[in-house]
Formats: sequence, structure tokens, C-alpha cells
Amino acid sequence: MKQGWRWHTGLFGSMLVLGLAGGASAQYQGWTIPDGAKAEKSPVKNAADAAKKGKSLYASNCAKCHGPEGKGNGPDSDHAADLTDEFRADLNPEGILYYKVWNGHTNDMPAFKSKLTKDEVWNVVEYLKVLRTPAH
Ligand code: HEC
Repeated sequence: MKQGWRWHTGLFGSMLVLGLAGGASAQYQGWTIPDGAKAEKSPVKNAADAAKKGKSLYASNCAKCHGPEGKGNGPDSDHAADLTDEFRADLNPEGILYYKVWNGHTNDMPAFKSKLTKDEVWNVVEYLKVLRTPAH
């Protein structure tokens, strides 16, 4: 019995260490995304047109933190996400981008549901998809 108890504390200890290390190296984690968000599809009809509108919305609402090119290097934040990272495309399909921008995260990434309309956020999402396409 005693043996088993020790094994459990050991496991718990290493999970804690892994958790801390993971948190430090993999940025932008810890979002709670509801099940349906991933499957949500953009209602946008003309992606190019939407991305154009999204670009100016991005410039006025997002660039100060995420940087003019989306590299995460805007003056108002020292740890805004790099939105050009194509490797995060799998993790962030359009429905999840929408959810993240609409709802925000902790105090760092503001929620835009009170600042932009749904259509505006979808336009920004179309622009984010352009930003992370290599050689756009
Ligand atoms: C006040 C600074 C600030 C502003 C303004 C801001 N963001 Fe963010 N954003 C952040 C920070 C910091 C993070 C990473 C923090 C986190 O994940 O907890 C983030 C994360 C994100 C993520 C998630 C990235 C990922 O791969 O998980 C997306 C998408 C995003 N922002 C898009 C936007 C868009 C689009 C706008 C404008 C409509 C915007 N942000 C405005 C600071 C900002």
C-alpha cells in the first residue's frame, strides 16, 4: 500500500514539473475553447474583400500589440502572439481564431465582443488567415 502511495506522489510531482516547463516554453496556451468553436465556419462570402476590410480593422485594433505585420512585436504588449506562425494554423482553424478574438484571454488579449461586430471579427479572421499564409 505504502509503495502505491509513493508512486502517486512521484507521478504528481513530475506532472507538476512538466506542467510548469510546458507553460514556459509553449506560449499562448491555457485557453479554454468550447467544443463547437473548432467547427465554426466563416460566414464570409468573398474572402479577399473581407480580408481587405479586416486589414484596416487589424491596423486600428490589433497592430498596437501584435505588430503591423502580425509578428507579435507591437509596442503595447511584450508577449502578444505571433499571428504569422503557419505552424499554428492547425491549432487555430478559423472558428478558433474567431472564438479567441471574440472572447479574449485573461487580461492580456482583450475580448472584442463589445468593440467589434461579429461581421467585423470575421473580416479580421480572414485577414489573419492571409497573414499566416507563407509568402502572402
Ligand atoms: C492589449 C494587447 C492586445 C491587443 C489590442 C490584441 N491582442 Fe491578441 N493577444 C495579445 C496577447 C498578449 C496574446 C497572447 C496571450 C494569451 O494567449 O494568453 C494574444 C493572443 C491572440 C491570439 C491567439 C494566438 C494563438 O495562436 O493562440 C489571437 C488569434 C489574437 N490575439 C488576435 C488578435 C486580434 C485579431 C486583435 C485585434 C482585433 C488582437 N489580438 C488584439 C494581446 C493583444
